[in-house]
Amino acid sequence: MERREFLRVSLGAVIGLPVVASVLSSCETDVNKVRGQVVEVDISPYPMLNNVGGMAFVQVDNYSFILRRASQTTIVAFSAVCPHQGCLIGDQMGELHHHKIRCMCHGAEFNPQTGAVTQGPATTGLTQYQTEFDPQSKTVKIYV
Ligand code: FES
Repeated sequence: MERREFLRVSLGAVIGLPVVASVLSSCETDVNKVRGQVVEVDISPYPMLNNVGGMAFVQVDNYSFILRRASQTTIVAFSAVCPHQGCLIGDQMGELHHHKIRCMCHGAEFNPQTGAVTQGPATTGLTQYQTEFDPQSKTVKIYV
């Protein structure tokens, strides 16, 4: 490699690194909460997810989710941790009934389609994760 070519490649790498770091950093704060880890959930044990609009509370390892069947080919995943004071939503019967997501600790309610707050005291909505659903295998990948 000639000196001129070496300098062009070296400077490109030095200048390019901050740009790459900036792009990667912005991905970490993306609303989809992609953090490079995938949780796979088999929805077969949750018959309520067979129908559009059905919801289920699912715990996998240290993660707790509220899953909602949004369409035949889409499963939406929210964190089951209430943004008010951290109670787990959905671990008691009745909280996910009647097309509501309700935290039993202080009564906050969330829109099951978007996770947005519909009733306080919570002031922010549920964290939503990016998902990929395979209806054939009944497996949803959740990017946490
Ligand atoms: S912790 Fe959920 S409403 Fe307070």
